[in-house]
Amino acid sequence: MSHAFEPVTIGRYTARNRVVMAPMTRNRAYGPGASPTELMATYYAQRADAGLIITESTQPSPIGQGFPNTPGLHSPEQVEAWRSVTAAVHERGGLIFAQLMHAGRVGHPSLHEERAVPVGPSPVRAIGTVFTMDGPQEFVTPLPLDQAGIRETVADFAAAARNAIAAGFDGVELHGGSGFLLHQFLSTNANQRDDEWGGGVLGRIRFVVELAEAVADAVGADRLGLRVTPGAPYNDIVEDGLHDTYLALADALDPLGLAYLHVSEGSDTELAGRLRKHWNGTLILNPYTPDAHTGPESLKLIESGAADLVSFGALFMANPDLPHRLRLGGPFTAPDHSRAYGGDHEGYTDYPTLSAESAA
Ligand SMILES: Cc1cc2nc3c(=O)[nH]c(=O)nc-3n(C[C@H](O)[C@H](O)[C@H](O)COP(=O)(O)O)c2cc1C
Repeated sequence: MSHAFEPVTIGRYTARNRVVMAPMTRNRAYGPGASPTELMATYYAQRADAGLIITESTQPSPIGQGFPNTPGLHSPEQVEAWRSVTAAVHERGGLIFAQLMHAGRVGHPSLHEERAVPVGPSPVRAIGTVFTMDGPQEFVTPLPLDQAGIRETVADFAAAARNAIAAGFDGVELHGGSGFLLHQFLSTNANQRDDEWGGGVLGRIRFVVELAEAVADAVGADRLGLRVTPGAPYNDIVEDGLHDTYLALADALDPLGLAYLHVSEGSDTELAGRLRKHWNGTLILNPYTPDAHTGPESLKLIESGAADLVSFGALFMANPDLPHRLRLGGPFTAPDHSRAYGGDHEGYTDYPTLSAESAA
């Protein structure tokens, strides 16, 4: 039986425990040209006791940006700025992967230079709104990626992954969920293509598989993870034949030897168990917790063998020393979601550790 506080293999690394900081967009990349700041270095370093930190969504290219003040990994300026973040985490002995996220059709022209129109698998507009500098705005109809556009997008991801390594990251995670570009290709509504990247299951998983292959070639499969959110309807996603899609994806990617598969579980709680059987590598689970957030009880999933590691979002936001608190069984500070997106250090770097709390 494995335990949450035992080391575990993540690709070429050994994580010191199995408590993962889940990726969380915090919209505080106020540095020039969508660069991270010293405040972000402090925030991540505070959480370096995690077995693995996965950063907030980071755009691999300007057109991939989906929200205001999110950081990128496509310019020398950004690479330089991220170095302070990775150095601060490494100084505390932590491991940190950058989450690469391309928003695809749910980006917005107002977030892009020269108001460039977002791209997607097909010219199908998502129903809903995107948060922009001018408040929520309706999604727009994306420009469909042609074959050259697909190749260019894949090349952008590979370049961003190389940039991540140059910036001192231990690896990258591809964001394959939450209705963003990869998820759009996997879906049965945003992807209406009738070429090799659409149609049946093998067509719809093809973009993600090709992307994983290209990024693995660029930085090594053992420094690459993939996050999926099967069945999550966020950003207007419909997935008919859910199990078939994700089991085929797992089967196609398993031979690559990725560092991990990160499953953010939805209401279909059978699927993660099935994926576990189709995946020989390391599995990180963000369990389904409707109307709540992942809590200490989820560590049992490691003991039962359902997952190798468990990722915590909200609880890690509010408890910088989360592994320590989990080991003691609490207490836990409640997250303040009103300060999640944007703002300053408040609700960001001012959550106390347990020792600071006791001293006070
Ligand atoms: C403020 C906030 C920002 C998030 N941003 C991201 C993100 O950038 N990428 C991602 O994959 N998931 C993101 N998520 C989802 C979390 O990684 C996680 O799956 C979700 O919070 C559920 O886990 P929890 O119950 O432990 O919080 C975000 C969640 C929160 C609360």
